[in-house]
Amino acid sequence: MGETLTLRPWLDEDAAALVTAFAGVGMASQAGRPVHTEDDARQWMTGWDRAAEEGSGFAFAVERGGEVVGNVAVAAIERRHDTGWVSYWTTARARGQGVATMAAATMAEWAFGRLGLFRLELGHRGDNQVSCRVAAAAGFRFEGLERSKLRYGDVRYDVELHARLATDPRPPGGTGTVVEV
Ligand SMILES: CC(C)(COP(=O)(O)OP(=O)(O)OC[C@H]1O[C@@H](n2cnc3c(N)ncnc32)[C@H](O)[C@@H]1OP(=O)(O)O)[C@@H](O)C(=O)NCCC(=O)NCCS
Repeated sequence: MGETLTLRPWLDEDAAALVTAFAGVGMASQAGRPVHTEDDARQWMTGWDRAAEEGSGFAFAVERGGEVVGNVAVAAIERRHDTGWVSYWTTARARGQGVATMAAATMAEWAFGRLGLFRLELGHRGDNQVSCRVAAAAGFRFEGLERSKLRYGDVRYDVELHARLATDPRPPGGTGTVVEV
């Protein structure tokens, strides 16, 4: 990917971009509650603001050339073992350009360095092989299969678990910049 990425806090003025992003393919399962309106989007951001205040999770807008192209987050931060759960999504028009890979790699460096976490986990549905490639390219090794872990509608899905440790080698791709508040 030529142009670098910036991870920065989500802002009120991103509400419309969030609504558009959540209308994309594969996005229905990316939020606990549907994000159909700008009010939904603001509630989604408020949820992450609360998590940040508690220190349990942090979400960043991924920006490229002044445009929001995705989200990357670390949630379920657990301080006894210094672990966290990473997730990501990208906007429909930014897909296939290395955005999620660089965003996940950037998040990992930030979570190890700034938060002092040691183990970052992520999971993707067995039928989401694009996410599997993102995980691997961002240095999250495959660790195993969790059978029928997730249920969407009437269907249960296996989840492939990946993790990256603070001591793992850095993947070859680049990382972006993180701007905190
Ligand atoms: C999964 C998702 C995050 C990937 O984001 P992305 O920015 O397109 O990912 P990247 O461009 O970094 O691509 C990663 C790999 O997937 C490949 N890829 C991307 N889009 C692809 C597509 N439509 N078909 C096949 N391969 C694709 C890329 O070529 C790259 O592979 P490589 O490293 O071997 O070259 C994005 O499709 C998305 O947001 N989907 C909906 C939400 C979701 O599934 N989130 C993850 C939940 S676990």
